[in-house]
Amino acid sequence: MRNLMITGGAGFIGSNFARHLLERYPGYRVVVYDKLTYAGNLDNLKDVEEAFGDRYAFVRGDICDAQPVRRTIQEHDVDTIVNFAAETHVDRSIMEPDAFVKTDVYGTYTLLEAAREFDLERYHQVSTDEIYGHVPEGSSKETDPIVPRSPYSASKAGADLMVHAYHITYGVPVTITRGANNIGPYQYPEKVVPLFVTNAIDDQPLPLYGDGLQVRDYHYVLDHCEAIDLVLHQGEVGGAYNVGTGTEMTNLAMTRMLLRLLGKPESLIQPVRDRAGHDRRYSLDIGRIRALGWEPTHSCEEAIEKTVRWYVDNAWWWRPIKSGEHYQEYYRKQYAGRELEGPSATGNKREA
Ligand code: NAD
Ligand code: DAU
Repeated sequence: MRNLMITGGAGFIGSNFARHLLERYPGYRVVVYDKLTYAGNLDNLKDVEEAFGDRYAFVRGDICDAQPVRRTIQEHDVDTIVNFAAETHVDRSIMEPDAFVKTDVYGTYTLLEAAREFDLERYHQVSTDEIYGHVPEGSSKETDPIVPRSPYSASKAGADLMVHAYHITYGVPVTITRGANNIGPYQYPEKVVPLFVTNAIDDQPLPLYGDGLQVRDYHYVLDHCEAIDLVLHQGEVGGAYNVGTGTEMTNLAMTRMLLRLLGKPESLIQPVRDRAGHDRRYSLDIGRIRALGWEPTHSCEEAIEKTVRWYVDNAWWWRPIKSGEHYQEYYRKQYAGRELEGPSATGNKREA
């Protein structure tokens, strides 16, 4: 493994992963291939370009377009693809599923075809815990059935199945990681943690869905990057690995914690109409990746603390996004008129 193509590398996790690889492996070259949708941002890679310009290249392109994908592989002598490129926000998938099916399913197929044609050393798919669907009790193992319930998770599940099929049918050497909710630097402020932190900094309401007692595993992005690195180098070819802290937190508890860290009042919490088909709980069994020697180094609480600090210190990054026309229009469409009457979540007596 020497020349890695990181698709979706201008997004949140992909940019953290590109930086991680270049810092860790002085012999590796990285080409980021990214369409630069609303979620892609070259500011995420500014320091990478400056520090590693001789081993880093950027190509703007769509993973659904076979020709530029092939050209990039040839021109950069790519031996490994790590695919982060996707439409990733569940609420947008409920509004407009079209792009999710195209990029997450067809785009993955296009990359797999290229991996097959060029006989690449490895194709790694960055997947999600959401493919297991709502988990009322216990924790999902990699062998559990895949029961996605949103257009986003259904598209990601379709991609996982295609990756598996290319391994079985054509012998493409694949690996898959299924990550929990990542948080940390450079996450687009539509996802709940950066949205709530940045709204709270500006004393704006935090739109908490339903009763806020949905359960998530908020996981630090650099721990996720370490896990992908390990699976790339030591994972079983053809295998899938869950990645998270293996612990749980309600959205209400997460919200209260970040308000406490920022010294802001709980009266900022604004309960709003719940997400359609909202998965109440995800929970991952992380035994398989632990057996490979990986451990999360941040708890959910530590991940939230570091993330809050980063957004406080890096307003240069998120302010232009939030004041942009695309963001403002999305925000209106997603949240206008969604407020719920009645007792606020702060008055909610149930345990968070
Ligand atoms: P993101 O939305 O921040 O970034 C996605 C990137 O993909 C952007 O740079 C975008 O420009 C690019 N992209 C989108 N469509 C493309 C296309 N057709 N061709 C090329 N590039 C395209 O996403 P993220 O949160 O960094 O997630 C990265 C991957 O990790 C996704 O596959 C996602 O499903 C998965 N994942 C995310 C999380 C999470 O909590 N964020 C957790 C588990 C798994
Ligand atoms: O679990 C991994 C997944 O985590 C990734 O695969 C997805 O790409 C990523 O977007 C994320 O999905 P979620 O739907 O869990 O993340 P989101 O930040 O949108 O929401 C987290 C929780 O917070 C969820 O229960 C919904 C709730 N929420 C979200 C938003 C945006 C709110 O209460 N209010 C909000 O405004």
